[in-house]
Amino acid sequence: MTDTTPPTLTKPETTAAGAPVLRVTGLDKSFGPLHVLHDVSIDIWPSESVVVIGPSGSGKSTLLRCMNLLETVDRGDIAFDGQAISAEARDAPAVRRHMGMVFQNFELFQHLSAAGNIMLAPMKVLGLSEAEARDRAHALLEKVRIPEKADFYPSELSGGQQQRVAIARALAMRPRVMLYDEPTSALDPEMIKEVLDVIRDLSQEGMTSVVVTHEMGFARSVADRIVFMDEGRIIEIAPPDRFFEGAIHPRTARFLDQILHH
Ligand SMILES: Nc1ncnc2c1ncn2[C@@H]1O[C@H](COP(=O)(O)OP(=O)(O)OP(=O)(O)O)[C@@H](O)[C@H]1O
Ligand SMILES: [Mg+2]
Repeated sequence: MTDTTPPTLTKPETTAAGAPVLRVTGLDKSFGPLHVLHDVSIDIWPSESVVVIGPSGSGKSTLLRCMNLLETVDRGDIAFDGQAISAEARDAPAVRRHMGMVFQNFELFQHLSAAGNIMLAPMKVLGLSEAEARDRAHALLEKVRIPEKADFYPSELSGGQQQRVAIARALAMRPRVMLYDEPTSALDPEMIKEVLDVIRDLSQEGMTSVVVTHEMGFARSVADRIVFMDEGRIIEIAPPDRFFEGAIHPRTARFLDQILHH
């Protein structure tokens, strides 16, 4: 499949109305004796931005990794675009390529330039020619606001620039959903905004997103819904206004108090 049209990230109006992009139902997950997810259920709707917050160790990364089939689950179901998927299935790579994942530590290929990082999967997995992949990479670097960095290697880029290359690399596969796991927590304060601005733009263009973050200002302004997790359970799901003004659960209130007033 070769597809040279420029990346469009407009709202997917054609998505079957009423069908979640991701449907997580009754997930349980243990690592040995440690039970890290308890009966977790959440639907992610097309063009929705869901922000996941919660204390360290509450299971946020594990939930994202289960969604993306990087972890197996002990119980429960995950459906992607209405189709049941599971990590045991042989189609895990096919499913995963429709989900863009962005990690705290960027995880770029150090031996490839920014453009090279972005071009790799479209060439290897989608069969784009080098010229097509390069065009796509340049368009995406423009999108993440570093068009001048195409030929720079990760070691020559700031953390904020590296993370924007990682976002561009994920977008190059034209994913149906972007999963971000604390995308700014390894960054110096002055670089946080430039990365959050890119994620915000993508969300506002209709990219379905799940973002684990401690950035409450971002959560408040970008999230359609906020999920609060504690000790492996979803304690609360609410739109930001309700979440920040009237968190219903005492554990949510305690967490917000800690994070907002220290
Ligand atoms: N591969 C693993 N093997 C064993 N235990 C794990 C593994 N991955 C995670 N855990 C444990 O599962 C629990 C949930 O971890 P997880 O990384 O999902 O939390 P988190 O909410 O993302 O925390 P943080 O905010 O610190 O990133 C923790 O107690 C963690 O130590
Ligand atoms: Mg984590």
